[in-house]
Amino acid sequence: MEERTGQQTRAMGCERVLLVYGGGSVVRSGLLDRVKASLDAAGVTYHTLGGIRPNPTDDRVYEGIEMCRREHVDGVLAVGGGSVIDTAKAIAGGVLYHGDFWDFWAGRAVMTEALPVGVVLTIAAAGSEGSGNSVITKLDGMHKISLRTTVLRPRFAILNPELTFTLPAYQIACGVTDMMAHIMERYFSTTGGVEVTDRLCEGTLKAIIEEAPKAIADPTGYDAMANIMWSGTVAHNGICGTGRVEDWTSHAMEHEISALYGVAHGAGLAVVFPAWMTFMASHNPFKIEQYARRVWGQDTAMDGIAALRRFLASIGMPLTFADLGIQNPDIDLMVRKLHENKGPVIGGYMKLTAKETADIYRLML
Ligand code: NZQ
Ligand code: ZN
Repeated sequence: MEERTGQQTRAMGCERVLLVYGGGSVVRSGLLDRVKASLDAAGVTYHTLGGIRPNPTDDRVYEGIEMCRREHVDGVLAVGGGSVIDTAKAIAGGVLYHGDFWDFWAGRAVMTEALPVGVVLTIAAAGSEGSGNSVITKLDGMHKISLRTTVLRPRFAILNPELTFTLPAYQIACGVTDMMAHIMERYFSTTGGVEVTDRLCEGTLKAIIEEAPKAIADPTGYDAMANIMWSGTVAHNGICGTGRVEDWTSHAMEHEISALYGVAHGAGLAVVFPAWMTFMASHNPFKIEQYARRVWGQDTAMDGIAALRRFLASIGMPLTFADLGIQNPDIDLMVRKLHENKGPVIGGYMKLTAKETADIYRLML
């Protein structure tokens, strides 16, 4: 499929693209060369922006925007994971805007247009290949913020499971945790009458729970890797949130951890989500109990959370700040920045102020 990148790029109306990639995995695997050959064959010219790091930062976005303007680029291609895709999206949105691209992330402007974005995905995790989100960290102040807009949803995404065979077990586990979190952020909702969407969420979660250990045991096993890759997209392309208010507190709280301490987003979520659920088990237990029963076959909310924790530990994920390698987390700072970035009250499942979010961070110690 990746050999059709050139053809797909043409089909989205582009002839001169910016090719964005990460720290080298796509160079070592030969994928980048195959994508370039496909662009050459389709008569698409390209300029490259490589070395995008996990938890991507605004400096590379400004650099990409400059390149696109200088070279009169008409589309952006991402070859990699969420960090690469999010950078490509931010560049695509920034190029057509005369002000500072960060205005959109800071909520000072609304994005109405962007260059078309295409994706060749190499890791099942963030779901950015199917989402309209782009998560960028502003280096000045280390503000990590997610922008959600349909304008940035990729025009095409190539998902060949074989491209994920080179992933280390830890990255697969981080990806699995992230996609589960994307479903749970939508599942934990107070909106009633959403049985079909609840069952979509539960079914996908159960498939992930079954396939993940197989994928981690053998990253070259096609079927497990294919199921995990498809789950990553289904988890975050919007379908699991149909017709309901979503939560997203755990993601906002995790973004403060990865912005400050540079941990992998999925690993941070393994620490945050069970803590958030533990808080909810004593404040708003209804949906946590349903989740425990239907996903884990457990009678109580706390037993469901314990089952989730056992699963996360079994795939090698951390469960506390100390497991993440953070000995003295600065909870006051994270709480302050969280509410600076997201407002004084956050969350769809239960409204939380700085007092409650601090309590939840303390449950991660
Ligand atoms: O940089 P390279 O060398 O490619 O290595 C990457 C990177 O070190 C490696 N990797 C990727 N594909 C590989 C591979 N290594 C070997 N073989 C392969 N096939 O994996 C590492 C992690 O890559 P990254 O792109 O950072 O992973 P992920 O897809 O988890 O993206 C994480 C970022 O996405 C954001 C996160 O906050 C984080 O910044 N998110 C984006 C979302 C969105 N746009 O919708 C939603 C998420 O909730 C999330 O917040
Ligand atoms: Zn996520």
